[in-house]
Amino acid sequence: MTTHSHRVPEPVEEPRGLWVTFEGGDGAGKTTQAALLEQWLQRQGRTVVRTREPGGTEVGVLIRDIVLHHRGDIAPRAEALLYAADRAHHVATLVRPALARGEVVIQDRYLDSSVAYQGAGRVLDADEVRRLSLWATEGALPDVTVLLDLDPSAARVRLDADDKPFDRLEAEQADFHERVRAAFLALAAAEPDRFLVIDARLPVDEIAVQVQRRVAEVLAADLRA
Ligand code: TYD
Repeated sequence: MTTHSHRVPEPVEEPRGLWVTFEGGDGAGKTTQAALLEQWLQRQGRTVVRTREPGGTEVGVLIRDIVLHHRGDIAPRAEALLYAADRAHHVATLVRPALARGEVVIQDRYLDSSVAYQGAGRVLDADEVRRLSLWATEGALPDVTVLLDLDPSAARVRLDADDKPFDRLEAEQADFHERVRAAFLALAAAEPDRFLVIDARLPVDEIAVQVQRRVAEVLAADLRA
């Protein structure tokens, strides 16, 4: 008899990545905070993939050009499908593989942006927009979503100071951006475990510390699991 059959199987170490998304209106400081989180995690020796939607892949860059720079209208459902197509390809070819390697994915915008912009902004049914994205990604949801909340009129001051031309969505009227903000806050209230809501008027460093604290908690909980 071999002793082999009595041996307890070695637990397979499944590498577990971490997926953090940043959400909020245009001009809320998502990109700055994503970069600060990346640096903080890299200092701890983590491998980080920084990405964004729309446009995190080659296919996504083409889709981004349509949704942001097409001159003239795009039917709301077509717009929702374009963002969902970008998302489907991004999650399948970039996000899931990185998480499977145990890496940290830090991403500007995800499906909450679709629910807020195409749902509340373009007035499609929010649940349908969400289900479309969940179908596109086979139900992928981030571990942490940071919502940088900012009054659209304050955001506008920041965007004006930037001196960049507005894209199709930035160029929308104030009430569009008010609806988007309210939709983000409602999403956060519905999923308090996933969301961390931060007042985007706080100093950059203070926001960064709040984000780091939450990410550290999630990483510590993962180690215990
Ligand atoms: P973003 O990359 O944040 O723009 P910028 O490079 O100017 O900071 O986002 C592009 C725009 O796309 C933004 O106005 C929000 C919009 N958007 C949607 O309407 N739906 C979506 O699903 C996503 C991901 C973005």
